[in-house]
Amino acid sequence: MPKHFLTILDIPKDEVKQVVLRAKEMKDGKVRTDLLDGKTLLLIFEKASTRTRVSFEVGVRQLGGDPVFIAARDSQLGRSEPLKDTARVLSRYADGVIVRTFGQEKLETLVDYGDIPVVNALTDEYHPCQVMADVLTMYERTPDLEKVKVAWVGDGNNMAHSFINGSAAFGYELRLACPEGYRPDTAILDKAVSLGARITLTDDPKVAVAGADYVNTDVWASMGQEEEQKKREAAFAGYMVDESLMGLAAPNAGFMHCLPAHRGEEVSEGVFESPASIVWDQAENRLHAQKAILEWIFK
Ligand code: CP
Ligand code: NVA
Repeated sequence: MPKHFLTILDIPKDEVKQVVLRAKEMKDGKVRTDLLDGKTLLLIFEKASTRTRVSFEVGVRQLGGDPVFIAARDSQLGRSEPLKDTARVLSRYADGVIVRTFGQEKLETLVDYGDIPVVNALTDEYHPCQVMADVLTMYERTPDLEKVKVAWVGDGNNMAHSFINGSAAFGYELRLACPEGYRPDTAILDKAVSLGARITLTDDPKVAVAGADYVNTDVWASMGQEEEQKKREAAFAGYMVDESLMGLAAPNAGFMHCLPAHRGEEVSEGVFESPASIVWDQAENRLHAQKAILEWIFK
């Protein structure tokens, strides 16, 4: 049976920390450059991407494999060929598929009808590769993750959901500040709490950020929600991570953002460009975290 990475919880709890430690080793140069020898990995993207696409293409090459990129709209998927048919065809050519799409159920279809590993490169529900990289970024600064307090300020979106799963997997405390109507999915929260995650939910960013070691935010309108931009700007008024909000966090707290960022909306220019901002380390760590995820799948 192939291994899949659709959410962080797909990696057993007793292995997930090791994947992050391996990512750190890879960053320090210990890469198995023959891991994907003779293997072709498809990247099928239905949404725009800079970091995810490039870091996966580079990472697959660094592991000895061949990446093949397909923009969904240029393929027969864009002309309504069923995904379950596409899944069976692609399984005959390639050794794995890395997918950025809308609904998580599309990944489930690929799993059900294909017979090669499926990796979630972002869906409406989750962004697990990003949060594995973000955990690596936190680990590099504060290795005892169980002592770390993470604040999430803004939309209860795909990134928030993966941070929730990350709390169950890695043990950091998570405080989410989300306005009414934009809270994370209750089932995702309940599941993480049932697995032991320490999570609180508030609508007051100050409460979430007070004493936090990391302050995270993300765009207010995610890909696919562009038409809601104005409505969301109103709903998220008061949720910008600015200098006064960051001032409530712990001394030396890090500001985190998966990027791309909208300065003047979810984050002020000053915070984004401040020494507290660790966004470039997060982006760099995509490469290493994803190589470690591929090693977990293909080793
Ligand atoms: N953070 C992230 O996933 O960036 P891209 O959309 O550029 O891939
Ligand atoms: N929440 C954002 C993340 C982009 C990397 C989106 O889905 O558009």
